[in-house]
Parts: sequence; structure tokens; C-alpha cells
Amino acid sequence: MGRLIYFSAFAALLLLTSCGDNSEQVDSGADSSDAMFMAEIGRIYGFKCAICHGKKGRSVIKTAPHLTESTMSFNERVAIIKYGKTTMPPQKDVLDVKTIEGLAKYIESFKE
Ligand code: HEC
Repeated sequence: MGRLIYFSAFAALLLLTSCGDNSEQVDSGADSSDAMFMAEIGRIYGFKCAICHGKKGRSVIKTAPHLTESTMSFNERVAIIKYGKTTMPPQKDVLDVKTIEGLAKYIESFKE
């Protein structure tokens, strides 16, 4: 009987450690693809947005606000990128939702 308890404890331990390993693998996979995704978003920002908003969010045309000073919420940024406003061109037929949300997130890294 004592031996059975010892064995189950050992089996439970094995089960726990193998679960831990699995979740670690999933995490590190997501991290590297996130970094890849954000690098791609940075590239898209560079040729779609930087012409007006500057490479680092300091705008280069008079009418465009500095993104470094944006006080918009994430959802407001997604909306303005999707639908545009005045001279800002809408992106909803050009970029997919995931990319637009990525851009809205990317802009946050400009905040000073
Ligand atoms: C042709 C120039 C132009 C391009 C290209 C452009 N924008 Fe804009 N953007 C503007 C202008 C002008 C405004 C201000 C609109 C207004 O309020 O009338 C603006 C506003 C914004 C705002 C709101 C900032 C705030 O807090 O007020 C965000 C966010 C933004 N742009 C993101 C982007 C992203 C991301 C891209 C690339 C997909 C982009 N813009 C491309 C001109 C541009």
C-alpha cells in the first residue's frame, strides 16, 4: 500500500512537470511569432504611415498629429486607421483587421 502511494505521487509529479514543459514550449513559440509579427507591422508602418506621421511618430506634415502625443484609446486608433479622417486615407479595404490592430498597438511604442 505504501508503495502504491509512492508510485502515484511519482506519476503525478511526472504529469505536472510534463505539463509545465508543454506550456513553456507554447509560450516561447508565441513570443517569437509575436516579435516577427511586430517587425512586419513596423515595416508596413514604414511605407504606409511614416510618409505623414514620421518613422518614430513625429509627424512630418502639418495636418497630421504627432502619434507620440496621441491620447486616443486603442479602439479609437483602430477606428481612425480603418476609416481614415480628412487627409488620412482609410485602410479597411487595404489592410486586414489583424494588421490594423497591430498598427494601433505599434503606435503605442512611440509614446514618450
Ligand atoms: C496622407 C497622410 C497620412 C497617412 C499616410 C496616414 N495618416 Fe494618420 N493621420 C493623418 C491626419 C491628417 C490625421 C488627423 C486627422 C484628423 O483628425 O482630421 C491622422 C490621424 C491619425 C491618428 C490619430 C492620432 C490622434 O491621436 O489624434 C492615428 C492613430 C493615425 N493617424 C495612424 C495612422 C496609421 C497607423 C497610418 C498608416 C496605416 C496612417 N495614420 C497614415 C494623416 C495621415
